[in-house]
Amino acid sequence: MVGKCIAFLVIFCFVVDQSWSLTDNEIAAFISRDWIEGNTNLQGNVSIEKSCDTLILRSNGIPDHKTGIFDGTSRSTPNYLLEQDNTWIIPATPRYARKVKCLPMGTIGMAINGVSIYNPFDSKCCDAGLTEANLLDICWGHPNGRGSYHYHIAPKCLYKNYCSNASSIIGVAIDGFPIYGPIDEDGTELTKAHLDECNGKETNGQYRYHVINEFPYIMGCFKGKVLSNAGINKACKCKEVSAENCDPSGEGSDFKCCEDPDNCPYVYNTDTRHGISNN
Ligand SMILES: *[C@@H]1O[C@H](CO)[C@@H](O)[C@H](O)[C@H]1NC(C)=O
Ligand SMILES: *[C@@H]1O[C@H](CO)[C@@H](O)[C@H](O)[C@H]1NC(C)=O
Repeated sequence: MVGKCIAFLVIFCFVVDQSWSLTDNEIAAFISRDWIEGNTNLQGNVSIEKSCDTLILRSNGIPDHKTGIFDGTSRSTPNYLLEQDNTWIIPATPRYARKVKCLPMGTIGMAINGVSIYNPFDSKCCDAGLTEANLLDICWGHPNGRGSYHYHIAPKCLYKNYCSNASSIIGVAIDGFPIYGPIDEDGTELTKAHLDECNGKETNGQYRYHVINEFPYIMGCFKGKVLSNAGINKACKCKEVSAENCDPSGEGSDFKCCEDPDNCPYVYNTDTRHGISNN
C-alpha cells in the first residue's frame, strides 16, 4: 500500500513537473552570496526546496548588497534592518487564475537573494515609486516597521549588464511565475505597453513578470493562482493607485537608462551584481 502510494506520488510529481515550472537554471539563480551586510553584520541566505507539487522558499531576508544605514537614526527611514525568518510556499507548476488577483501589502514575491518583493503601493495606496523613492537606498530597498528589507520598484542592484543583454531572472512571484528584468530577448527595454495588467507576458510560451521603470514596476496583479498556505497576506488594501494625499516629492522613477545612460540615476556595477554603497 505504502509502495503504491509512493509510486503514485512519484508519477504525480513527474507529471506535475512538466512545462511552466521554474527551470533548473532559474532555480539555480537563487543562491546565498558571500557578502556581509553592514547593518546586521550577517550574511543573507536563501533556499528553494522542492516538495512534490510545491516549492518552499526560505530566507533570512538579509540583502547581499550594500544598503543604506538603517539603524533607526535616519529621519527619512527610521526603521532598523533585521534578520527575518521567511517561509513562503508556491506552486511548483504555476497556473493562470481564472481572474487576475489584486496584490496584498507585504510580500508578493522573493528576489533571487531572498529579499521580499512588495506591491507598488505605499501604506496610503500611493505610487511608492513617487512617494518612497527618496526613502530608498541605492539598491532601491528599505526595511519596513518590522525590519524586513524589501523592494517596491526595480531592484536595480540585481541586474547585470542592464542595457546590453536580455535580462535574467531576478525573483519569483508567490503565484510561482518567474520575475525577469526589463530587457527582452531581442534587446528591447520593456515598458507598460508591452505587458499585460499584471506586468507580464509570455516568452517562448512561458509566462514571466518583467520589472519595468514605470508603475507598477514589478507586478500589477497575480496572474496565477496563489496557494492558500502561501504565507502572505490575503486581503488587498490597495486595488489602484490613490490620487489623493500622495506626496510625489520622492519622485525617482522617471528614467529610461538605456535611452539616456548619461542621466541614469543608477549607480550600477556591471562586474558584479552588487550595488555600490551610499553608506
Ligand atoms: C539562514 O540563517 C539562519 C541563521 O542566521 C538560519 O536559522 C536559517 O535556517 C538559514 N536559512 C536558510 C534558508 O538557509
Ligand atoms: C552580454 O552580451 C555580450 C555581447 O553579446 C556578451 O559578450 C556577454 O557575455 C553577455 N553577458 C552576459 C552576462 O550574458
